[in-house]
Amino acid sequence: MEPILSNLESLVRPEVRQLVPYEAKYLPQCIKLDANENPFPWPAGMREALYIEDLALNRYPDGMGGDLKMAIATYTETSPEGILIGNGSDELIQLILLTFGGLGKSLIIHPPTFGMYQNYARLTDTTVVPVPLLNGLALDIAKMLEAAKSPEAHVVIVCNPNNPTGSLFPQEGILRLVKESGKIVVVDEAYAEFSEETLIPEIENFPNLIILRTFSKSFGMAGLRLGYLLGQPETIALINRVRPPYNVNSFSQKAGILALGYLGEYQSQIQQIKAETHKLHEGLSQIPDVVVYPTRANFILFKPADPEGWAEELLKRGFLVRNMGELPVLGKCLRISAGLPAENEGFLRAIREISTGSTRD
Ligand SMILES: Cc1ncc(COP(=O)(O)O)c(C=O)c1O
Repeated sequence: MEPILSNLESLVRPEVRQLVPYEAKYLPQCIKLDANENPFPWPAGMREALYIEDLALNRYPDGMGGDLKMAIATYTETSPEGILIGNGSDELIQLILLTFGGLGKSLIIHPPTFGMYQNYARLTDTTVVPVPLLNGLALDIAKMLEAAKSPEAHVVIVCNPNNPTGSLFPQEGILRLVKESGKIVVVDEAYAEFSEETLIPEIENFPNLIILRTFSKSFGMAGLRLGYLLGQPETIALINRVRPPYNVNSFSQKAGILALGYLGEYQSQIQQIKAETHKLHEGLSQIPDVVVYPTRANFILFKPADPEGWAEELLKRGFLVRNMGELPVLGKCLRISAGLPAENEGFLRAIREISTGSTRD
C-alpha cells in the first residue's frame, strides 16, 4: 500500500513555497475604486449583441483568434501576424517570461510598478533586477541600460503609464532602452487609451519591442479577461510556441470584436473618466498633508499621513480603495481609480470628513 503523504509542502517547488497568493478584495457591495476599472456600463446595445450572438459553446474556441486579431489589427493599425491574444494581459506577461526568461535569466523592472511582473518572474525561475524609479517617478535609463548589459538580462518591462504611480515616461528614454539594450523590451500600455500616447508605430523598427495591451481598463471588460501583445511577426511567433492552445474563450473573443465596433462610445467614456480623474486630483490636492502624485492614467496615487487608518475609514463609508502598503522609494500610499461622477463626489466628501477628523484628534 502507498504511504499517505503527511507533508505536501515538501513536494512543492521552492519558488511556490515562498509565494503569497494574490488576494484581491471582492466586496461588490462597495463603491469600487480599487482596481483601475472603467466604472461605466458597456455602450448601449453591446450587451444584447453579445447575448443574441449564436456562439457554438459546445465547440472549442478559435485557438488563433483570427477574427479578433483582424479587429485588433484595424484598431491598432498593425498586422494580424503581429498580434497574440491572451486570457488577460496577466497571462501574456507569463508567456513572455516563459519564452525569454527562466533559470539563469533576469528581468529588469522599475519599482514601484505592477506587482505581477515580479510574481511571474518567480514562477518562471527568472531573477528580478530592480532599478528603482528616480524620486519614485522617473525612469533611470542609465542604470537600466547598465543592468541590461549583463548577459543574464533578457527582458526589460516598462509600464507606461506606470501602475501605481500614474507617471507617463517620455518615449525617447524608452526608445533608448529598445535601441541600446539589445534585449526584449516590453512596454505595458494597459492605460494607453487614457494617456493617449503609444509606441505602437515603432514596432516595425524594432524586433525586440513588444507592446502589451488589455481590454480590462478603458474597454470595461475586466471580468472577461482579454489582453493582447503586439510585436513583429517573428517575435510574436516565438511567444506563440508557449501559448496554451485555447487560452481565450469564444465569449471573450466575440466581446472584444464587438467592443472595437463601439469606439465612438468608448472614446466618450474615456474623456469622461479623464475629466473625473482630474476632478479627483484637484479635490485631493486641496486636502492638507496629503501628497498627490501626477497621473496620466485613470487612477491616482496619494500619500495621506495615515494610509491604513484612512483606508479603513473609507471602507466604513462604503469606498474600497487600494492600500499599496510600503512602496519602494515612495513609502506607504493609497491608490484610487475614477468612479462614476456621483461616486467621486461622495469619495471627496468622505475623505474631507476623514481628514478634518484626523487633524482634530
Ligand atoms: C499595468 C498593468 N498591466 C497589466 C494588468 C493586468 O490586466 P489584465 O486584466 O489584462 O490581466 C494590470 C491590471 O491591473 C495593470 O495595471
